[in-house]
Amino acid sequence: MTPETAAWVTSPDAAPLLAQAMAAPPTDELAVQTRLRRVGHAAEQVAAVLAVVAARRRGRAKFGASADRMFFTPDGLEQATRPELAARHTARFIAADVGWVADLGCGIGSDARSLAAAGLAVLGVEADPVTAAFARANLSPWDDARVVTGRAQEVPLPGEATGRHTGGVGVWVDPGRRVRGVADSRGRSRRVFALEEIEPSWEQVCRWAEQVPATGAKLSPSFPHGRIPAGAEAQWSSWLGEVLECAIWWGPLASAAGRTAAVCRPDGRGGGSEVVVTEAEAAVGSAATQPAVRRPADLGSWLWEADKAVVRAGLTGALVGRELAPGVGLSTGDAAADLPWARRYAVLDAMPARPKVVRAWLRARDVGSLTLKKRGASLDPLQFRHDVGKLEGSSEATLLLTTLGAAVTAIALG
Ligand SMILES: C[S@@+](CC[C@H](N)C(=O)[O-])C[C@H]1O[C@@H](n2cnc3c(N)ncnc32)[C@H](O)[C@@H]1O
Repeated sequence: MTPETAAWVTSPDAAPLLAQAMAAPPTDELAVQTRLRRVGHAAEQVAAVLAVVAARRRGRAKFGASADRMFFTPDGLEQATRPELAARHTARFIAADVGWVADLGCGIGSDARSLAAAGLAVLGVEADPVTAAFARANLSPWDDARVVTGRAQEVPLPGEATGRHTGGVGVWVDPGRRVRGVADSRGRSRRVFALEEIEPSWEQVCRWAEQVPATGAKLSPSFPHGRIPAGAEAQWSSWLGEVLECAIWWGPLASAAGRTAAVCRPDGRGGGSEVVVTEAEAAVGSAATQPAVRRPADLGSWLWEADKAVVRAGLTGALVGRELAPGVGLSTGDAAADLPWARRYAVLDAMPARPKVVRAWLRARDVGSLTLKKRGASLDPLQFRHDVGKLEGSSEATLLLTTLGAAVTAIALG
C-alpha cells in the first residue's frame, strides 16, 4: 500500500466503503471487490479496503471488538502489544507520575492507544509512512495524542513538545524485530531474534534511557540476562502461558531492580489473573536452597511446572520442593502446596524415556490417548510419539519427557 492510499483509506471518504465491506461475510470478498470496482473505485483503493477489512478480522483475536475500528498493517498487527499488556505498561507510567510519553517506533499504536486512553499525552514517532498513517487513525479519538512520520533518533527529547503538560516526561520504545522488504504471502516480514538486529538499536534505546530517566522498552523474551542495565528492572511477561516480552524499565518506572516475571492468566488458573515473581523470592525459595533431584526414586508425590515467564526470568528457585534440574522450571515434593504461577500434577510413575519401555507401560494401562510434554530434554517428542507406535486402549495418559541426572526420563502425570 502506498502512503497516499493509506491516507485515503483512513479518511472519512473511505469510511462508507469500509463499513460495507465489513458488513459482508468474509466469503463474499470477491463479490465486494467486483461491486466496488463496478461503481468506479480504483483497484488500489479496493485492494486497500479489502486489506483493512481482512486485517480487522484477524485483529479481533488480539483487540476484540475494537479491531473493527482500527487499522493494521500485517507486521503492525503481529508486532502490536496485546492491549492487556499495554495496560500494564501504561500503569507503570501512571505510577511514576509521567504525564507525557514519546512512543518511539509506535507501530500501529497499540501501546500509544493505551497511554492515551489513560489520559496521558502521547507523541508517537513511526518511520514507516503507511504504519504511521494507521497509527494516526488509531489514535484519532484522543486529542492529546499525535503521530509524526520519521526516524525516532531525529526527534528532540524531552523537548518542547511537552507543551502545557506538567507531569513528567517518559519514553517508551518497542523496537522493530523485522527485516524490511522480506515479506511472506500475507505481507509479514521475517523476524529477527538477536538484540544486535533490532531497530532502533539497543545502544540507541540505552542512550534515550540516559537522557530520560522514565524510559521503558519492550524486547524479545530471549533478552540476555547479562545485558540488563544496572539498576533497571527486566520483566518477562506471559499471557495465558506464552511468554510475550521482556520489558526493561529504567529509573522511576522500575519497581525492583533485576529480574522479575509477570504471569498473566485472565482465565483465573492459579487463582489470580496476575502475579509477579521477584529475584528476592527466587533467592529464598525451597528449590533454590535444596539440591536438584538426580534419580526417579527422588521424585515426590507432586510435580510443579513453572510458567515459562518465570523460567525465562531465571526465577525457578522460587518453586516449592526440589528442582528436577536447575533452571528448567520443574520441581517435585510431597507437600501439596499450590503456587499461582505453577501447575501442580500428581506423579504417578517414572521410567526411562525409551519407546519400548513406554509402549509396554501404556499398553499395560489400556492407554489409547497419550499427551506428551517435554521440558529440559533434547528429544523430539513427535519422533518419540511415532516410535511408541499405535495405541488402541480406551484410557488417557500424560507423560512428561525430561532429564533426571543424566537420564532422559518419562514421568507419568495425573
Ligand atoms: C514493534 S513495532 C511497535 C509496536 C507498538 N508498540 C504497538 O504496540 O503497536 C516497532 C515499530 O518501530 C518502527 N521503527 C523501527 N525503527 C524506527 C526508527 N528508527 N524510528 C521510528 N520508527 C521505527 C517500525 O517501523 C515498527 O513499526
